[in-house]
Amino acid sequence: MSQLSTQSDLVAPFLEIKNAQIIYDNAIEAVRDVSLSVAEGTVVALLGSNGAGKSTLLKAVTGTLHLEDGDLEKGSIHFAGRDLARSKTDAIVRDGLVLVPEGRKLFANMTVEENLTMGAHLKSASELRRLKQTVFELFPKLKERRSQTAGYLSGGEQQMVAVGRALMAEPRLLVLDEPSLGLAPLIIDAIYETIALMRRELNMTVFLVEQNATQAMNLADYVYIMENGRIVLDGPAEKMRTNLDVQEYYLGFSSGGEERKSFRDIKHYKRRKRWLS
Ligand SMILES: Nc1ncnc2c1ncn2[C@@H]1O[C@H](COP(=O)(O)OP(=O)(O)OP(=O)(O)O)[C@@H](O)[C@H]1O
Ligand SMILES: [Mg+2]
Repeated sequence: MSQLSTQSDLVAPFLEIKNAQIIYDNAIEAVRDVSLSVAEGTVVALLGSNGAGKSTLLKAVTGTLHLEDGDLEKGSIHFAGRDLARSKTDAIVRDGLVLVPEGRKLFANMTVEENLTMGAHLKSASELRRLKQTVFELFPKLKERRSQTAGYLSGGEQQMVAVGRALMAEPRLLVLDEPSLGLAPLIIDAIYETIALMRRELNMTVFLVEQNATQAMNLADYVYIMENGRIVLDGPAEKMRTNLDVQEYYLGFSSGGEERKSFRDIKHYKRRKRWLS
């Protein structure tokens, strides 16, 4: 159940993006006037189709935009009082904002355990042992596979390593970019169950980017929908789930008798294309 009925109940949001405009190469406007906030202890989902600007927003939040010649041209981004536009990635991680990137980005030639250790490079040896134990409790499979090369694991196992590696940094705000991408439904369920568990047991705040609207909406307290660089709709998850537009376009239900291309059809088509290319 959600802990807050609306985002406006908040005193001071944990993560707050105000009127963000993000431009790549001084030319491509990927995010236009986006405002969004994440309250401490909540799960917030940002949904939207390919190219909507979701990952771009996350790059701004994690201080990695400059690596791709991207710029926060207008607006502001604050996390726990810190101005993220002026912060280095390391400092952002130390403050507790940790990203599980799109496509996992594991160190493919390293073992599972080495990948986990990379997530904890700011920790002492005893903290490292304790954190590894926490991750192995959450993902017993990873304990079994601790000495295996990450690149040879299944997609689902690699996603577990990616989430586990982020947990090693003890996030206060865990940011996930499309955790369900390319995974089978049962594996997606398992990943989402773990995210729900982390939120419950570790009292973690979660900011989740997804194309998989159903799962994300079930877990989230508050949902934003992004199209072409803008937020087009937002609201408490329970309201969004029953909103007819959301049902039709984002959850794949059709109100009329005619066959309408649903968001999910489009998504699956694009996914398939991506796999084949
Ligand atoms: N490094 C970059 N340089 C130039 N343009 C970029 C760069 N990264 C993204 N873009 C453009 O910015 C827009 C938003 O891309 P972004 O990756 O943020 O979308 P997304 O919502 O994450 O999509 P997806 O669901 O496919 O991952 C797209 O038009 C994309 O082509
Ligand atoms: Mg993306």
